[in-house]
Amino acid sequence: MFATLTKQGLCAAALFTAFSVHAADKLPNVMILATGGTIAGTGATSTTTVGYTAAKIGVEKLIEAVPEMKTVANVKGEQVFQIASENMTNDHWLKLAKRVNELLKQSDVDGIVITHGTDTIEETAYFLNLTVKSKKPVVIVGAMRPATAISADGPINLYNAVGVAGSKDSAGRGVLVALNDEIQGAREVTKSSTMLANTFRAPELGNLGYVVRGKPVFYRATARKNTTDTEFDVSKLDKLPEVDIVYGYANAKRTPIDAFVAGGDVGIVHAGTGNGSLATPVKDALKEARGKGVVVVRSSRTGSGITARNGEANDDELDFVAADNLSPQKARILLMLALTKTKDTKEIQRMFYTY
Ligand code: SIN
Repeated sequence: MFATLTKQGLCAAALFTAFSVHAADKLPNVMILATGGTIAGTGATSTTTVGYTAAKIGVEKLIEAVPEMKTVANVKGEQVFQIASENMTNDHWLKLAKRVNELLKQSDVDGIVITHGTDTIEETAYFLNLTVKSKKPVVIVGAMRPATAISADGPINLYNAVGVAGSKDSAGRGVLVALNDEIQGAREVTKSSTMLANTFRAPELGNLGYVVRGKPVFYRATARKNTTDTEFDVSKLDKLPEVDIVYGYANAKRTPIDAFVAGGDVGIVHAGTGNGSLATPVKDALKEARGKGVVVVRSSRTGSGITARNGEANDDELDFVAADNLSPQKARILLMLALTKTKDTKEIQRMFYTY
C-alpha cells in the first residue's frame, strides 16, 4: 500500500544521512496531532481519487511515509481522533483545543501540526484561532488525494506543514492552514473546489504566504484578534451552546427555523442571499425566534464580501447581529463562543467586528 511512498522515503532518508546540515538538538520540536481525513485515507487502487475511504492510516504510518520531515523538525505524533471531517463535532473541537493548549504549555513543544479532513478544516482552524492560548505556531494540514493515490498531495503537504510549524516566523500569526505550497489564515480560508488540489482560497483577501523548500515565506498578516488576544476560554467547558445555520434561497420557508428553535437552539445563523437578505416568511420566523431569546446572526451565502449591519435588514430594529465578512460556518463558531460569554447582542456585534 505504501510502496511508492516508502521507496521515496528511503531515498530521502539516505540523502538526509549523507548531507544533513542540522543537528537534531537544534531542530524545533513539532507535535503532529492526527484527526483523520483524506490525508489518512486509502483507496482500492492508485487511481482511486474519488470513492476512497478517509481516516484509515494512523499517525505513525503518516510520519514514517515522510522521513524528509526529520530535516526540518524533531517530530512526534499523537492520534487524537480518526474521523472523516464531516463528522467533526463541537465536542471534538473542545477536546482538540484543550490538548493543543496543554501541549503548547510544554517548553519542549515548539509548534503543532494537526492533520485533518479538508471538508471542515476551515471550521476547526477558526475555532482554534479563537481558543488556542499561545503564540506558538499551530498549522492545520490535509490532502485532496488519499495516501494511496498517484501524486498523493498528503506527504508534501505534511512536510511543508511541519516546516511552517517549526519556524519562528510562523509565531503570532494565528492558526494557519497549509496545503498546496500555500499558507492561509484561519479566519479567511475556505474550501473552494470539491476536487482540486488548490481548493483552499481566501476569497478577495488572498493567502498569507507560501512554503518554499520547507520554510514559510509570509507577505501579510491577519488584522483580526486571535489566540492569546481573544476573550474566549474553553478550558473549563464541556459543552458549547447549540447554534445552527439556516440556508437562504428562492421560495425559502420558515420550517427549519421553527424546528431549530423547538429543538432548543440558542443561536441561529442565517446564510442569506446577496448581502444577507431575508425572505419574508424567514424574517418573520427569525423575528419570533429573537422574541424567544434566540440570538440571530445575518450572514451571506455568496462566499465573499461584508454582510453590512442595517443593510438588507434593519438589524437595530430586529435586534439581529451582522456577520461582517465571516462565512456562515465561521459565524456559527463565533456565535457559539460569544454565547459562552454573553447574550447581549451589542456585545456580540462587537465580537463580530473584533474577531
Ligand atoms: C474529510 O474531510 O475528512 C474528507 C475529505 C478530505 O479530507 O479531503
